[in-house]
Amino acid sequence: MSYKIPLGRPFLGKEEIAAVRKVMESRLIAWGNKVKEFEEMFAKKIGRKYCVMVNSGTSALWLGMKVLGLRNAVIIPTLTCNAVLNAVLNARLHPIFADVDEETHNIDMSSVPEKQLEEADAVIVTHTYGHSANMDTINRYVEEYNLTLIEDFAQATGGNFRNKKLGCFGKISITSFYGPKLMTTGYGGAILTDDIEVYEKCIYMRGDNLNKYYPGLIPMNMRMTDIQAAIGIIQLKKLDKMVEMRRKIAEKLKELLHDTKLKLPVEKGYAKHTYYKFAIILPENMKKSKFIEKMKKLGITTGKLYDPPLHKTRTAMDILNITLNLPISEYLATRTVSLPIYPELSEEDIIRIANCVKFVMDD
Ligand SMILES: Cc1ncc(COP(=O)(O)O)c(C=O)c1O
Repeated sequence: MSYKIPLGRPFLGKEEIAAVRKVMESRLIAWGNKVKEFEEMFAKKIGRKYCVMVNSGTSALWLGMKVLGLRNAVIIPTLTCNAVLNAVLNARLHPIFADVDEETHNIDMSSVPEKQLEEADAVIVTHTYGHSANMDTINRYVEEYNLTLIEDFAQATGGNFRNKKLGCFGKISITSFYGPKLMTTGYGGAILTDDIEVYEKCIYMRGDNLNKYYPGLIPMNMRMTDIQAAIGIIQLKKLDKMVEMRRKIAEKLKELLHDTKLKLPVEKGYAKHTYYKFAIILPENMKKSKFIEKMKKLGITTGKLYDPPLHKTRTAMDILNITLNLPISEYLATRTVSLPIYPELSEEDIIRIANCVKFVMDD
């Protein structure tokens, strides 16, 4: 067996190292002017008025929900990262689980019963694996049921919906800069909004401007450091290039795997996919655990995407005591696997991944 290919890998170079060194030498490692600079750059890049940087995407979600003053239920897709459910539960809100669209794996609002649509305060929309949700449909539901839209573009920073940047759609939009994400600060997250009041409350909740007082809001220290922001500034400059590199790799993988029984990722006409994940659906005759295990033996790490879906996790079962069937997500959870994808994946490694997939499928 030759070297191992990881699932994801941040694209870091000399520029990030130099930026970190500069902050270290300044001694202003926690709170100088880098966070502010990064916030202004990120808001401008995405096209929002305000940005608040925090220490993770989960913090961004939790803090955003607190600031929005949500009280009751929040609709979430069941096929997404645990952090979404954790943030909702930690904000003392009730999750309503929605099934997903079979092709794009994004939230399917039509799966939510009418009564629950009426009860909900808000909806969290993720752009699963980097493919934009259909925001035209989402916005129709948002208007009809008077929902607050929280956009979670943690998997889609740099992606588009109808040529509009993701991150532009929510009352608040949040993202994550965790290591293997589309751009990174190690850990980190951002909240974007166009509402000055929401912005000021987010700053307060993050642990700044504590001379202010907002009834019902209790701040936590969720700040990003200047060291992280210095990395983020460089990463942001490379974002478009990194997304393009992922897109090229995805095209190559699709080309090499088109004649297999796998269902490959789609890109709808309205979307610019970021390929945060290259998610494939295994055929019925291939057990997911077997596939993952055999690929591992060949030195290739694969991801076990969202198995179980959130409504079947122990957290959901224990805390909410629910039995719910969301058939499309449950089916996809048993069959979806992600292949390695990251900007520096070489042509040789792409070919090796495709050959190993074919070998395992024929085995
Ligand atoms: C859709 C989504 N939301 C939120 C998060 C949480 O972000 P973080 O890991 O930075 O807390 C993640 C993943 O990490 C994610 O994929």
